[in-house]
Amino acid sequence: MSQLQRHLRDRLLDALQGLGLSRTDAEPMLRLEPPKNREHGDVALGAFQLAKAMGKAPPALAAELAAAIAPDATVAAAVAAGPFVNFRFQRAALARDVLTDILQNAAPYGPAAKSKEVVCIDFSSPNIAKPFHIGHMRSTVIGTSLCRIHRHLGATVHGINHLGDWGMPFAKMMTAYMHWGDETELQKAPMRYMFDLYKRYSKEAKDNPALDDEAAKHFQALESGDDNKERRMWQFLRDESLKAFQGPYERLSVTFDAITGESFFEDKMEDAMQRVAKKGILETSEGAEVVTLKEQGIATPCLLRKSDGTTLYHTRDLAAVFYRESTYHPTRILYIVGAEQKLHFDQLKGVLVKMKEPIAAAVEHVPFGLVLSKNDEGKWEKFASRSGNAVFLDEILDEAVRKVTKVIAEKNPDLEDKDRIAEQVGVAAIVFNDLKNSRIKDVKFDWETMLNFEGETGPYVSYACARLSSILRKSEQSVPAIDKVDFSQLADAEKVLLVMLDFGTAVQRAAEQSEPSIVTAHTIALAGEIHSYLRDHHVLGAEPAVRDARLLLVEAARRLLVTGLSLLGITPPERM
Ligand code: ARG
Repeated sequence: MSQLQRHLRDRLLDALQGLGLSRTDAEPMLRLEPPKNREHGDVALGAFQLAKAMGKAPPALAAELAAAIAPDATVAAAVAAGPFVNFRFQRAALARDVLTDILQNAAPYGPAAKSKEVVCIDFSSPNIAKPFHIGHMRSTVIGTSLCRIHRHLGATVHGINHLGDWGMPFAKMMTAYMHWGDETELQKAPMRYMFDLYKRYSKEAKDNPALDDEAAKHFQALESGDDNKERRMWQFLRDESLKAFQGPYERLSVTFDAITGESFFEDKMEDAMQRVAKKGILETSEGAEVVTLKEQGIATPCLLRKSDGTTLYHTRDLAAVFYRESTYHPTRILYIVGAEQKLHFDQLKGVLVKMKEPIAAAVEHVPFGLVLSKNDEGKWEKFASRSGNAVFLDEILDEAVRKVTKVIAEKNPDLEDKDRIAEQVGVAAIVFNDLKNSRIKDVKFDWETMLNFEGETGPYVSYACARLSSILRKSEQSVPAIDKVDFSQLADAEKVLLVMLDFGTAVQRAAEQSEPSIVTAHTIALAGEIHSYLRDHHVLGAEPAVRDARLLLVEAARRLLVTGLSLLGITPPERM
């Protein structure tokens, strides 16, 4: 918690104690947040919950609290407005405390102390028999950001890649490889090669249904658990796919704490099925085993075992919940998966609810919208690449980097370390574009917009960071020590400081709502405010006391932008 927040909380807890509510009771109900309208104050407290606990009307309590908080060296004013109390800080205290916290990397600007939260984040999770779908790119980017946001807030995070490495799609590709595969060709470009095999299989299976029977047999052989040719082939194709993903994952700074794909649950499904059966909720329907969920408003039953005895995507997800529960003891399990799988997760949670498993409450589907691109007539439609809806992540990243390289060649041809900077800015453009709007909205994939250095884009915020770094580099003075700075010189930087003050709430809300876009919006706001400030105020030419205070502001803004971007999974360049 920031120094300002801590001070204000202490004052409020004293005041509430004076009104008869103990500090321990009051503590969890004190949420200081930015007011709806900045004119009203720097932070606001909604008195609803507290008033309820004290048996008072919220406006009455707000008035009592406002009256009890007299101005001091930190707090300038406390004013009640209906059920809210709005606070203003003294301007010098605002500057001093915010900048000190940022420069000392204290929470919320730096990582918080370990909390009790344990968050499992199931993300990326491509089906490795099939090509990477553009939706997997969104899951990868959103999931990475959520891992970083929760870690920043002190949670223990388990980022999990629930790889689709089992089931019929895999069996089909294996069948294709057995017929037409060639290892040397595969090694050249594994993902593309597997994709071509998959396409060939789909085409040939149309005229030759026997292929599907063959694939089903291979899958049964695989599920038998024996050490047979299917198992060896499975291991080989899985290893090759994982190797091929590693490159793009590294470029996106994505890491996993566990790569426990569907195959990992192969020997854990029987226990899971038993556990469901014991609750007496498993029904047989045409030889298959299902759980009906009508009473929860879910019309389609959850199919857990097919009539031929094989298991399904659902069976593995159920086993995965139990495994995660006993291995990690999570407070939340987030599934970063496209909105089209809503029913799947409703059913999964429905089964857990019907089983009366407490872990049901932790299961949260975090859906997101589609990626759209412009078709030849200029209309937005579901993303399509030259190879259909398949995408090769590395190709998209390469394309972004190529385009940024061109811009650099035009605008700043003498830039040192061009390639590295183009890579950083290109990747930033893609990630930022994905995380810019609330995740449920469709993402418009348009090169021109996302690479616009003047829009609300990755390149724009990266450029803001580089500009701040450049001011600091040009200054002959190093950034002054905090205790040497006269903070009253920053009265004109109020807007920048207030955006900085809001950072903690932004990160908190992003975690609660699984919404990285709140952090993205914060970086845009901060970049915008510091840009305007620097347009109207000189740093290096100002007289020493002013210059020093402004240098400190610039350094804090730079650091906070870097932190915000790092929570999105973006590393901005030092120069551009
Ligand atoms: N492999 C799945 C797909 O591509 C996504 C898996 C998401 N995670 C999960 N636990 N179901 O559709």
